[in-house]
Amino acid sequence: MCGIMGCVGKTDIRKIILNGLAQQEYRGYDSAGLALRCPDGVRNIKIVGRVCQLAKLVEERASDCEGAVSGIGHTRWATHGGVTVTNAHPHESCDGMVTLVHNGIIENAREIRAELVRNGVTFVTETDTESPCQLLAQIYDGDALTAMSELCGSLTGAFALVIMFRDRPGEIWCARRGSPLVVARADGASYCASDPTALLDYTHDLFFMEEGEMAFLTSDGCKFFGFDGAERAKTSIRLDWDSVMTDKGRYDHFMRKEIEEQPDVLRLTIDAHTVVTSVDMAKSLKISSDVLKKIRRVQFVACGTSHYATLAARDIMESLDCELDIMTEVASEYRYRNIARGGDTLAVFVSQSGETADTLAAMRLASSKGAHCVAITNVRGSTIDREVEHTLLSLAGPEIGVAATKTFTGQVGILALLVLHLLKELGALSTNDEARLIGGLRSLPAKLQSMLEREPEIEALARKYSDSKGFFFIGRRECVPLTMEGALKMKEIAYLPSEAYAAGEMKHGPIAMLDEKLTVVALVPEGDLREKTLSNVEECRARNAPIILIATEGDEDARSYANDVIFVPRTERELFTLIGLIPLQLFAYHTARTLGRDIDMPRNLAKSVTVE
Ligand code: AGP
Repeated sequence: MCGIMGCVGKTDIRKIILNGLAQQEYRGYDSAGLALRCPDGVRNIKIVGRVCQLAKLVEERASDCEGAVSGIGHTRWATHGGVTVTNAHPHESCDGMVTLVHNGIIENAREIRAELVRNGVTFVTETDTESPCQLLAQIYDGDALTAMSELCGSLTGAFALVIMFRDRPGEIWCARRGSPLVVARADGASYCASDPTALLDYTHDLFFMEEGEMAFLTSDGCKFFGFDGAERAKTSIRLDWDSVMTDKGRYDHFMRKEIEEQPDVLRLTIDAHTVVTSVDMAKSLKISSDVLKKIRRVQFVACGTSHYATLAARDIMESLDCELDIMTEVASEYRYRNIARGGDTLAVFVSQSGETADTLAAMRLASSKGAHCVAITNVRGSTIDREVEHTLLSLAGPEIGVAATKTFTGQVGILALLVLHLLKELGALSTNDEARLIGGLRSLPAKLQSMLEREPEIEALARKYSDSKGFFFIGRRECVPLTMEGALKMKEIAYLPSEAYAAGEMKHGPIAMLDEKLTVVALVPEGDLREKTLSNVEECRARNAPIILIATEGDEDARSYANDVIFVPRTERELFTLIGLIPLQLFAYHTARTLGRDIDMPRNLAKSVTVE
């Protein structure tokens, strides 16, 4: 939801800003812009389009941009106001005193605008962002700290604001509430960005701004303040990601690279939390045995793909026959249903980015009710990591493709181990089940690898079915989360209508949609539900729908039910998600590729959803 980059204290500021925007483009890509504080004033260059187009325009005007002492930039995911150059950031106050970029939503923007217009201020954009920009220029009388405090106190909603004042060259001011902002110092320069990955070229020691915090950046250093203007001491957090991890390497798309990385993600996850055939989370999860032994209720809360990972975790718990009260809910509903509980509740919040607004709000709610809260996130230093009682880091490394792939695998892996750890503490896990599932997990990276080697076969199928008018993904029990993830991937990157259904539900309505142009992808691994699912497949076939089955290796009989079959290696039934996922990801990827879609930055989306 918008990417911000700022820098002061370097000679090549425009390249630094453009590079930072390119690295954060997955946060939003409707428009892009940068403002450079040059010796004779501010150059503000904006376009509708991608950062590479902005870079081209900036280079054409390079001679105009010489001698910049500070700069701020922005990639936009439009919320208020259409995708136009005027609505693109940075915005400037009508007197030119304030230049500002913003990530978030200012909820009282209309009221501020109405009041300022009454006082003669001229607005030129349709954005909510112009309100804080014009308001700050009205408040400012030479004392930036006081003006920033007053501005922050006047705003409702979420914001990360990065600001330059015309009469303060070589200074950048930042404020954060609800939207992420990270600050860094390196080699006589100060930087800020929405996403830590944009700063890794300069340093790995990062200052994550807290809720209600402001920062003042110069070439000499950074200072931090509360919204009340009181200075705050702050320590950096080290992020061990390598900047090479954010490079596309030999791949055409980040998504494809990230699909390939999944065996390693799983290997790392297993190594971090197991010893031989035992789960061992005592070091990574600091909830005492005494607390875990009293847990009677588990609530899993997340959004999108992370939510589907929690559905897989629920299935593992249910299969182990524990007597816990288990609930999964999307964060945007959890917040407003009266279901948050305290006491003997373990509430698990899963968020790749650690910045999803609804997941954060749900976590705060559960925490206020007294639940024992654990966050599973991929980003150390993210808001959820800093706020939650306990964090488990998923070990996927930076994920750049907007469609989540390897982070899902990392989440399911760590959730599976968390479930085993909890049930073990509760005395509800047999040694046999523990050894069976950990053995199963250990065997998976090699199986995932073998599945990746079948890419040409899946690519051919994607080409064959890419003229389908849509897809139904169906399956039962452990396959249901996968049907959802398969359909979401297809929607996100191929833009094809795709539905996920528990196979038994098809005849209760959706089957009416089937004909020879609507393809059914059915997950039918071996096991107790194979026959029942195949009966549902037969019902679809009888309505002329083309059928692709995902079946277990060796199940030759499956061929007689389908137009095409993708075989996956045999695995423990509770772990099927981790292997069944690969063909679904590759199928969506190659369908999108065949259709010429923008795979890493699909239309209308952004990687972190920092607005409600
Ligand atoms: C998945 O491909 C999507 N990018 C999206 O559904 C995502 O999983 C969701 O927005 C949740 O994000 P989070 O894990 O960062 O909280």
